[in-house]
Amino acid sequence: MAERLTTSAARNVFYGGSAFFFVIFLGLTAHSHWYMATSSTDASTLTPAVARGKHVWEKNSCINCHTLLGEGAYFAPELGNVWIRWNGNEDPAAARDMLKAWMASQPSGTPGRRQMPQFNLSEQEVNDLSDFLEWTSRIKTQNWPPHTSG
Ligand code: HEC
Repeated sequence: MAERLTTSAARNVFYGGSAFFFVIFLGLTAHSHWYMATSSTDASTLTPAVARGKHVWEKNSCINCHTLLGEGAYFAPELGNVWIRWNGNEDPAAARDMLKAWMASQPSGTPGRRQMPQFNLSEQEVNDLSDFLEWTSRIKTQNWPPHTSG
């Protein structure tokens, strides 16, 4: 056995190690996609209204202030679980009304609170947003975030 690492042995460790971990990386990537497609996302309830609601979300750049499942800006509350926070699982109609009232009453003007702009959304747009936020709240996130508050 050589007493020290030869150049060719070092090269083999490098290429072998790279190939080995690249294969593991590919496997984990495939597993993530498989898990998202089969376990965490409920494609059967992905209605056109949910897709339209996502469009409203994107068109108005809600993500510039809010996070959705942790992604986005940390200026305003997380909204991936706002549906649960507003008890939409128990009483979806009340949560829908709440969102309608919330969107209509911004900015609140309350001193000392961060303000959210008025977006002047149509009734249809707010309804679609409700569908989108309700659907998002059902994504299985392995109990993340740990608290339902903001
Ligand atoms: C300029 C920043 C900003 C943008 C853009 C923004 N928001 Fe907000 N939003 C806020 C702030 C700040 C609050 C918290 C206000 C408060 O508590 O008085 C808030 C609160 C909310 C809440 C209530 C959350 C809770 O748990 O009480 C909802 C729902 C909401 N926003 C929806 C939206 C939607 C939908 C959009 C896009 C159409 C949007 N926001 C875009 C700043 C923003």
